[in-house]
Amino acid sequence: MTRTILGLLAAVALAATPATAQTYPSRPIVMIVPFAAGGPTDVIARIVGEHMSRTLGQQIVVENVAGAGGTTGITRGAQATPDGYTIMMGHMGTHGAAPALYPRLRYDPTKDFAPIGLAAGTPILIVARKNFPPKTLQEFVAYVKANAAKINQAHAGVGSVSHTTCTMLDHQLAIKPTQVAYRGTGPALNDLVGGQVDFMCDQIVNLVEQVKAGAIKAYAIATPVRSPALPDLPTTTEAGLPDYQVSAWNAVFAPKGTPGEIVAKLNDALSKALSDAATRKRLLDLGGVIPEGKERTPEYLGDFVKSEVARWTPILKAAGAVAN
Ligand code: MLT
Repeated sequence: MTRTILGLLAAVALAATPATAQTYPSRPIVMIVPFAAGGPTDVIARIVGEHMSRTLGQQIVVENVAGAGGTTGITRGAQATPDGYTIMMGHMGTHGAAPALYPRLRYDPTKDFAPIGLAAGTPILIVARKNFPPKTLQEFVAYVKANAAKINQAHAGVGSVSHTTCTMLDHQLAIKPTQVAYRGTGPALNDLVGGQVDFMCDQIVNLVEQVKAGAIKAYAIATPVRSPALPDLPTTTEAGLPDYQVSAWNAVFAPKGTPGEIVAKLNDALSKALSDAATRKRLLDLGGVIPEGKERTPEYLGDFVKSEVARWTPILKAAGAVAN
């Protein structure tokens, strides 16, 4: 008798699961990338999205929605229907720094999303146009201090990773270069290669190929150890600027209220992408750092976002990047 009742209850519970979750995904999925095509966020989204499409059996279609340091696209993602058909690639800027820089931000990174999982860690490089006079990081520091008024620094909008990480650097060096904002560090890199801007702080995955080709100059990587993707590039500690330590990250989010079964399917697809040999090679060759184990869980990402918002607010206040 009991088994019959339990069996009945189980059948009812199963029937109560929204049909959509059981048949998800039944059509293509939009992944919002909140910066212009060709930049680090876009590159990581397309690399992991390609393999996720295979696991999910539906195309993940990247939609570039740039503006306001990535907050325009993430706001759209936060307000999307929580049905699993709109997800987004956020990062340390949109889900860490933005609350300190945008007092009227229309989303709360810690509340308005269903975290799916970390995609890649992205160490920061200090890079310049190839004919920028300084040859070493020490020469760079001396040169930008002496010529700050004549120098321009590229970034992807207030609150972007390129903006926040160079705000840290500018504060440490007590310089205020002219800031040139782009809709992503893809376009910014084009102007750096063309010599239209002087320097930038950017995520390694955007830079490896141009550094190797000698199209731009890299001074240092702001992590404790060198990157296997650029083994000859010294760390900031080795190059005499030990206080400049910063690395970014990119992660997949869905809007708050996305059903748990759908979050689990998306997380599974992301994790399979990060375990796929060819996908790993593409990320590692670009200097990406792949999350492993519990770092891949939605719970880990949710807690990590909370700690990143708490971490970046005082850093940006100290750097004068926000109204005190
Ligand atoms: C940034 O925050 O600087 C962005 O990641 C740049 C980009 O992806 O285009």
